[in-house]
Amino acid sequence: MAVRRIRVEDDPILRMKCKEVREFNKGLEMLIDDMFDTMYKANGVGLAAPQIGILKRIVVIDDCDGHKFELINPQIVEAEGEQVSTEGCLSLPGHIGEVKRPLKVTVRAFNKKGEEIEMHAEEQLAVIISHELDHLEGILYKDKATDYRLNDPQGKKR
Ligand code: NI
Repeated sequence: MAVRRIRVEDDPILRMKCKEVREFNKGLEMLIDDMFDTMYKANGVGLAAPQIGILKRIVVIDDCDGHKFELINPQIVEAEGEQVSTEGCLSLPGHIGEVKRPLKVTVRAFNKKGEEIEMHAEEQLAVIISHELDHLEGILYKDKATDYRLNDPQGKKR
């Protein structure tokens, strides 16, 4: 377990497309543990592997309701509706912006044991999932945001 350094701002790794995870082993579990440690230490609710410099399709999420989970090789297979909310990102410290996202998403992914999972999320959790999956494509929320601006430092970040 270790807190890793979070890549920020113009770090080119944040703009690269991540590769699929093919081996589900102890190393993967340790990486996921480190991602949770890093996310919680930074007071975040989501973190994608490229944010700690690892170009793999892994995200970790806290659903703000007492559950945490990892999504490996995730894909949004269904999206419905629209919502606009205020987002921040651990890789873009000190900023927020308004982003339009789906209201509901269905995601297929693997957990760290290599088991296929499907989950339905809506509202805030759908936002977090969409935001984190964008990181795996090298997309930052500021690319989609209106009114990208300086933030109040108390806000939750992802
Ligand atoms: Ni982010």
